[in-house]
Amino acid sequence: MPVTYHFQTVKHLIHGAGSLDQLSAKLELLDTPVTRVILVTQNAMHRLGVTERVIAQLQAADISVHMLDNVEIEPTLENIERVFREDVAPHAPDALIAIGGGSVLDAAKLFAVMLTNDTPLRNLLGIDKVRFPGKPMVLVPTTSGTGSEVTPNAIVTLPDEELKIGVVSRHLLPTLVLLDPLLTLSLPKPITAATGMDAFTHSLESFISTKANPVSDAFALESMRLISGSIVTAYEQPDHVEARSEMLLGSMYGGLALTAAGTAAVHALAYPLGGKFHVTHGVANAMLLPHVMAFNLDSCAPRLKRAACACGVAEPSDSDDVAAHKLIAQISQWTQRLNIPQDLRAFGVSEEHLADMAVAASKVTRLMANNPKPLTLAEIEQLYRCLLP
Ligand SMILES: NC(=O)c1ccc[n+]([C@@H]2O[C@H](COP(=O)([O-])OP(=O)(O)OC[C@H]3O[C@@H](n4cnc5c(N)ncnc54)[C@H](O)[C@@H]3O)[C@@H](O)[C@H]2O)c1
Ligand SMILES: [Fe+2]
Repeated sequence: MPVTYHFQTVKHLIHGAGSLDQLSAKLELLDTPVTRVILVTQNAMHRLGVTERVIAQLQAADISVHMLDNVEIEPTLENIERVFREDVAPHAPDALIAIGGGSVLDAAKLFAVMLTNDTPLRNLLGIDKVRFPGKPMVLVPTTSGTGSEVTPNAIVTLPDEELKIGVVSRHLLPTLVLLDPLLTLSLPKPITAATGMDAFTHSLESFISTKANPVSDAFALESMRLISGSIVTAYEQPDHVEARSEMLLGSMYGGLALTAAGTAAVHALAYPLGGKFHVTHGVANAMLLPHVMAFNLDSCAPRLKRAACACGVAEPSDSDDVAAHKLIAQISQWTQRLNIPQDLRAFGVSEEHLADMAVAASKVTRLMANNPKPLTLAEIEQLYRCLLP
């Protein structure tokens, strides 16, 4: 039987410096009357004056705004449920607007479907559990990392189970995405580094995924080309609009790639680090990426070579093996140049935790199934051990 693949994405996408100024004018693209919106955002956006500008813009268009900034960073299921109950449901919005990093975008995506699906959030965890379309959404990312603005996923932390878990549904795709690189100029260096490496991880993992296909490949290669060319500049020169713009596009393409093919073992191994030890998502992925790719090398060297060539670190005349090693060396160099932590002890992880972490990671079967090489519990433990140098 021929291999088939299915790709679905957002309806409208606007990219450009200053595009946030078009927000209220573009709400007509939601194809529904909008008079009451909920604006989900983060404290950082108040400090930068972004919230104030957006509220003024919406009010000038006679739209009433209820603003909330009480979604936690990498929110727990309880946090999402509480904010929904206290702050979202009572306001019965026509639409939701989210401006922030992946934490805020994911929260808004969940609120949108919780408003139309009368069931506890716990029942929506997993794949295709959301029955009805949500309220229309506008997503405006302010990190260049998760690509959440174009993915059908939203991630929550389950502290009791010390794990992160995804809601995956086509109903989580927004109607409108605004990509305004000016919003990312203020990203602090460590967040530029970690979120940028997360975006690169999405693309590289999608490119070697067992589900990789022509659609995901196109997005993944372009994403890796853009990110490899701009991540160091964005880190070292935070006001470099061109580099910020390329990072934001690269991150969006990474989201499209992972939508089409899925991430794999790096993300699966990152989940217990986030769920139990609060290592932020981007940092966990960046730490794991070179080690997991070295483990994968013998199962996907030709693909790693193509990725290396897209990143401009290998020549077409290099053997698959040489090119793959060059890519892994480049990733390690980035993690050092971007000051990504290299030792899990700093987060309270020690040898005695590794066995439980390996079991937890192995249970993320949704992502493990995409890895080009299966991992035993002992191999997962060994990968974590690389981060206890
Ligand atoms: N839905 C998906 O497809 C998907 C994919 C990957 C990760 N995720 C999830 O996304 C979350 C991580 O999101 P993230 O990495 O974008 O970070 P984040 O949303 O957690 O934000 C990190 C920090 O950056 C600050 N910040 C954000 N934008 C800023 C700006 N422009 N200027 C200054 N500060 C700013 C925030 O206030 C916060 O303190 C995790 O929960 C992760 O699991 C989702
Ligand atoms: Fe990620």
